[in-house]
Amino acid sequence: MKNQVNEPNDSSFSDHLIKMAQRLLAETEVNHVLNVAMDEVIQISGAERGMIILFDTTGDILFETARNLEKQDINRPEFEISHTIINKVKKEQKPICLRNALQEPSLKDSASVSRLNILSVICLPLLHKSELFGVVYLDNRTVRGAFLPETFQFVERFTDFISVAAFSALERKQLVNHITALETELRNKYHFDAIIGNDLKIVDILKLVGQIAATDATVLIQGESGTGKELIARALHYNSQRKDNLFVPINCGALPENLLESELFGHVHGAFTGAIKDKVGLLEQADGGTLFLDEISEMSPVLQVKLLRVLQDGQYYRLGSTQTRQCDVRVISATNRELEIMVKQSSFREDLFYRLNVVDVKLPPLRKRRNDIILLIKHFLSTYGVKYNKKDLLLSLEAETLLLSYDFPGNVRELENIIHRAVVLAESQVIEVQQLPSNLQIQAANFSDKQKTSIFAMAKQQLIEKFERDYVIDCLKSTKGNITRAANVAGMDKKNLYSKMKKYSIKAITYK
Ligand SMILES: Nc1ncnc2c1ncn2[C@@H]1O[C@H](COP(=O)(O)OP(=O)(O)OP(=O)(O)O)[C@@H](O)[C@H]1O
Ligand SMILES: [Mg+2]
Repeated sequence: MKNQVNEPNDSSFSDHLIKMAQRLLAETEVNHVLNVAMDEVIQISGAERGMIILFDTTGDILFETARNLEKQDINRPEFEISHTIINKVKKEQKPICLRNALQEPSLKDSASVSRLNILSVICLPLLHKSELFGVVYLDNRTVRGAFLPETFQFVERFTDFISVAAFSALERKQLVNHITALETELRNKYHFDAIIGNDLKIVDILKLVGQIAATDATVLIQGESGTGKELIARALHYNSQRKDNLFVPINCGALPENLLESELFGHVHGAFTGAIKDKVGLLEQADGGTLFLDEISEMSPVLQVKLLRVLQDGQYYRLGSTQTRQCDVRVISATNRELEIMVKQSSFREDLFYRLNVVDVKLPPLRKRRNDIILLIKHFLSTYGVKYNKKDLLLSLEAETLLLSYDFPGNVRELENIIHRAVVLAESQVIEVQQLPSNLQIQAANFSDKQKTSIFAMAKQQLIEKFERDYVIDCLKSTKGNITRAANVAGMDKKNLYSKMKKYSIKAITYK
């Protein structure tokens, strides 16, 4: 086939090269790129055997493809000569073309040259910005001078294209791997297990949220600032069938009406001064995914009507256009205001409220679920402990008591920030009151001994209740919801078990 290669100044030389390059550059997946490249170079060079290897930054083999060579051949002593040549190219980053390896001074002492009769060899570096990331290797064991100078020249030119195609395929693969890793991280972050809470109010909410995640129901999440509204919204998205499409958040309180409108619905060129080109709206970006409307209470009456239409039939217009567009989005909205009261006061549309509120999630403030403070502290100590490489951190009893008595107007976010800061400041394994914000320290200084005792008693009571609840659930799980046997396992009488189940809203049927 080497006869097909013409002189480099011949126009069919370039035509031929371009056609081969086109076939190669059409491939995007690393193994496909290598296979197409391998077949092409074997065909144009007439080589008996060939191999393309890609290395990682430490020089280890990342990918390889070979013709008439088996993977295991590469590790055999007979392949030593080829190794020597490949290593030389790796080191010097310069191509090698040997017409007769037997006469090559640096190789002729090698036993394998004569034993295997390796006569003709081409080995070329694959380079990106002058860095070697692979080699193309071709040889012929029977024909001396198998590769004519013009053949070598052609393969050398074509190798430039192999470099481009292989490097972009590698980059693409790395990007895909990176995205997959990020997606896994996101899924873990927004897995329901990552939402901490043992308080019955939260347990019930998580149960409800778990049930509705897979449905397309619109959800309205209400709660004070920092109670975890966005966390729940993301968990709903990442646990739904829409998870492979986008979760698109927008804060309705952060933009003036017309800007919010063009963000949400998009606009066409010339829709208003400054609209110099068409713009895709967030509804379109979220198509197939979830649109999270944060601070929905701040949406203007005009936009409320337009949003209602989207919820009713999925239709909307881009600003300045008369063409209806269709979208398929799940809408989750959140507010820290009492939307029902706004409806009563006619400052929020009632019909929209009912559309948004198909499922209603009301997140309690942290001060109303104090049981969870200890659990959240542990969670954030461990998360930030890993981040700052400070493992097994603890709070001193005084610091813990203080946090348990605090009202947390900023809810979980405030607690998270307090622990984050304390972990950064921690000098030993035990976090002291001094590492808590100054307003808390002042509060600590003002505590009377009596107050300290009662806070301690409260914390103790909370831990006992948590233990009791978990224990009763474990006993019911182990007896598959059989109350008589569960009472036996727990060593308490049936009446007592019933009263604990009632106290903690535990139903035996859940564990059947
Ligand atoms: N139950 C929880 N478990 C673990 N982390 C939580 C929990 N609730 C909230 N957080 C964390 O607290 C922080 C605040 O949560 P998020 O942003 O969801 O609150 P928000 O209600 O949307 O607040 P805002 O109204 O101020 O926007 C986040 O870092 C979130 O991960
Ligand atoms: Mg939020």
